[in-house]
Amino acid sequence: MSVRIALTLAGLLAAIAQPSLGKPDAHQMDHAAHMAQMEKPAPKTRAAMPPAVKPVLVRFPTQLRDHTLSNMRDHLLALAEIQERLAQQRYDAAAEIAEQRLGMSSLQLHGAHEVAKYMPKGMQEAGTAMHRAASRFALTAQESSIDRDLGKSLATLATLTQTCVACHAGYRLR
Ligand code: HEC
Repeated sequence: MSVRIALTLAGLLAAIAQPSLGKPDAHQMDHAAHMAQMEKPAPKTRAAMPPAVKPVLVRFPTQLRDHTLSNMRDHLLALAEIQERLAQQRYDAAAEIAEQRLGMSSLQLHGAHEVAKYMPKGMQEAGTAMHRAASRFALTAQESSIDRDLGKSLATLATLTQTCVACHAGYRLR
């Protein structure tokens, strides 16, 4: 049996097993479930994201560009390290990484003052949004270390990651 046929069969079986799949009916939704869903902001999936607009090209001096991209690679590494610490339930360690490498405490480290003057206003705001979200995550992770609620730290981490996505959607370096 080819892989494609196997996958199609698997899809069909899944559809038979869950007849409601693909036709959600808001009116049939249990009221309590509906209210619970209303309380939490829906996680942004790709489909829910605004349509891509042409990113703005921003020119940085070469050295600053290299410095910025190397910071960016450290941002990604920091997210990986945060996830790893969360998986180990080392909440305080996760909070420390977020605050020092991405949060308000990292502004000095990133030479934010020097870079900001080359950024359009919207990009500066996207940067500030990321620093704020990281510091907010750090606080939430500290709460999780007390109440052991991993879910709320993961949710705040997703909000932080969305701030990366938002700036990347809007701006590129030449
Ligand atoms: C204020 C805007 C902004 C924010 C916020 C931001 N980035 Fe970026 N990032 C950029 C720009 C601009 C580039 C260059 C993209 C290009 O020109 O192709 C970039 C590039 C990158 C790259 C590629 C680096 C390389 O070597 O080419 C990575 C990885 C990255 N960002 C990760 C992240 C992560 C992770 C976050 C969030 C924690 C983040 N960025 C937040 C603006 C931002």
